[in-house]
Amino acid sequence: MKFYKSISESYDFIFPYNPMQREFVLSMNESTNISKQSVLDIGCGTGNLTIELAEKFAFVTGIDLNEDMVSLAEKKSADISNIKLYSMNMLDIIEKFGVLSKDIILTFGNTLVHLSDESMIKTFLKRTYDVLTDKGILLVQIINYDRILDNNIKGLSTIDNEHIKFERIYNYEKNPKSIDFETVLTLKESGLVKKNSVSLFPLRKSNFQCLLQDIGFKEISFYGGFNQCKYSKDSIPMVVRAKKG
Ligand SMILES: C[S@@+](CC[C@H](N)C(=O)[O-])C[C@H]1O[C@@H](n2cnc3c(N)ncnc32)[C@H](O)[C@@H]1O
Repeated sequence: MKFYKSISESYDFIFPYNPMQREFVLSMNESTNISKQSVLDIGCGTGNLTIELAEKFAFVTGIDLNEDMVSLAEKKSADISNIKLYSMNMLDIIEKFGVLSKDIILTFGNTLVHLSDESMIKTFLKRTYDVLTDKGILLVQIINYDRILDNNIKGLSTIDNEHIKFERIYNYEKNPKSIDFETVLTLKESGLVKKNSVSLFPLRKSNFQCLLQDIGFKEISFYGGFNQCKYSKDSIPMVVRAKKG
């Protein structure tokens, strides 16, 4: 994906590691046997969360479609023996890992909505269901698209720090079922400006809930953030936990 190739080197300046993600995973996990559990981090990006989780779980696998992201994650985790990273499509998890093989599957950072439509998302969620062990859990974080669509919001806040400025525009004038996520990344040291765009599918909460229920997921909980605050239609992120068994 050209979009992530172009921003991979600056990714950690744009989205530095958020320790709340790790805390969320640990607190959502009800198993008392954490040191035997296997985790799959889908859309692992530059691997920060994958690496943090490897300290706690028996084995952590990170996958990402973008080779540049995966190679950055590989460099950071070269000395860690219980991590495996693959550059691959999230739709191929059954072929790669087999059914009933992962205790926790997580996909954070809006990765899910890079799939092009609801039927593709359903296919993927069904595959996560099959790959999970019987008591497995699925954890997902995306942007809350009810807030975006209902309020006609045309972008996310600009990220601005000593290293980068990252402007984020949402363009869905022509087709409300596909958002053109247009970004302008300015590298402060060199002054280089990179313009990019990627398509995102604006998945609404009610549709997401129906998909999970249809597939057979149980005890589906929605949160407004990794701090487990209550979801509302004004929450900026949408975080979901669903159980297989
Ligand atoms: C915004 S990043 C999120 C990275 C990380 N999870 C985080 O929270 O910072 C989204 C990631 O999803 C990956 N991605 C997009 N489509 C994918 C697919 N079909 N299969 C696997 N990874 C995909 C991109 O390459 C990118 O690294």
